[in-house]
Amino acid sequence: MDQRLLIDYQAFSSLSEMTSEDRELVEAAVDACKDSYSPYSKFRVGAALRLANGVIVKGANQENAAFPSSLCAERTAMFAANVQYNGVPQVSIAIAACGEDGKLIDQPASPCGACRQVMAEYQKLGGRPMSIILHGASVTYKFNKVDDLLPLIFDSI
Ligand code: THU
Repeated sequence: MDQRLLIDYQAFSSLSEMTSEDRELVEAAVDACKDSYSPYSKFRVGAALRLANGVIVKGANQENAAFPSSLCAERTAMFAANVQYNGVPQVSIAIAACGEDGKLIDQPASPCGACRQVMAEYQKLGGRPMSIILHGASVTYKFNKVDDLLPLIFDSI
């Protein structure tokens, strides 16, 4: 039998349409782009992760001459948060990407598969949905749970 998966998300054409908490997170993600170390791709990605205790942990992509040793912005934030605030649920992550000139790119950057899998793990660990906000100059998308970006999540435990 044919079945269909539906993905719910919201699109915002201006940050003023978002809650002040989400706006703050997006602004932190944009700010984190400056901490990107991306001499190879010249693609600066910033992430800002809100924890259940209200703390915002930032991340930015970190590259390496041995390319596979690099890490995406999202995972630097999530891994750092789970070390610095172990056991505190991760409730929302915003992502922004800028060019070499530091200018926000037009369309939102979407997390890679590996980052989505890590989000899924921390969402499960936190016991509550983790929302994902993808911010671009033209539009901002909000997904209320990781499942919306990673349907049929792999789960071994
Ligand atoms: N990158 C991220 O940091 N997050 C994403 O969601 C996609 C890609 C980084 C990895 C690499 O440093 C650069 O962007 C180009 O792929």
